[in-house]
Amino acid sequence: MTILLKFIHLAAIALWSGGLIVLPFLFWQRRALTTGPELDRLHRITRLVYVELTSPAAFVAIASGTALIFLQATFVEWFSLKMVLVGIMAMLHVVAGLVMLNLFLPNGHFSRLSGIALMSAYLVVIVAIIWIVLAKPHVDSTLFAPHLFEPGGLARWLHQSFGDTRMPTP
Ligand code: HEM
Repeated sequence: MTILLKFIHLAAIALWSGGLIVLPFLFWQRRALTTGPELDRLHRITRLVYVELTSPAAFVAIASGTALIFLQATFVEWFSLKMVLVGIMAMLHVVAGLVMLNLFLPNGHFSRLSGIALMSAYLVVIVAIIWIVLAKPHVDSTLFAPHLFEPGGLARWLHQSFGDTRMPTP
């Protein structure tokens, strides 16, 4: 079961990451096109990559990863770090969707600098996640957040930082 889930997880991640890396390049191709069939074709291909390949792959990657949480020992620091990076990757995924919303309007454009910046951001975050998962670095959270993995630690931290917190009663 774990092997099958990991296989699904990795296949979905390959599609998700590949789709994200190729999108800035597709966006950049918009610069050479004015209204017409070529622009419509690029629009269709870009939507196909984002809506029908990359987004469903992201959904499967997150769903299979969530299932894996219950099968593997994930209450360790490197996994928390991975989740932070996955959150950033998901936000950068949304950025591509937002770019696409305006890109194919008559005056839409996407500069080479934006393309390089977006593609670099994808590459950095993807490589960082893969490195963390494969190297599983030992991070000793007791050095900077001693209560991070302690039951009730969050409540104590909130209490120390913000004083007495009370639930408003109607
Ligand atoms: C919400 C999203 C995700 C969750 C909940 C999740 C969760 C997990 C879990 C629990 C494992 C098993 C860990 C272990 O071997 O102990 C795993 C494996 C893995 N994950 Fe994720 N993951 C997510 C997204 C990602 C992403 C975005 C990437 C890469 C870009 C990624 C790359 C990997 C790799 C390469 C493995 C295999 C590690 C190994 O077998 O040694 N995951 N994931």
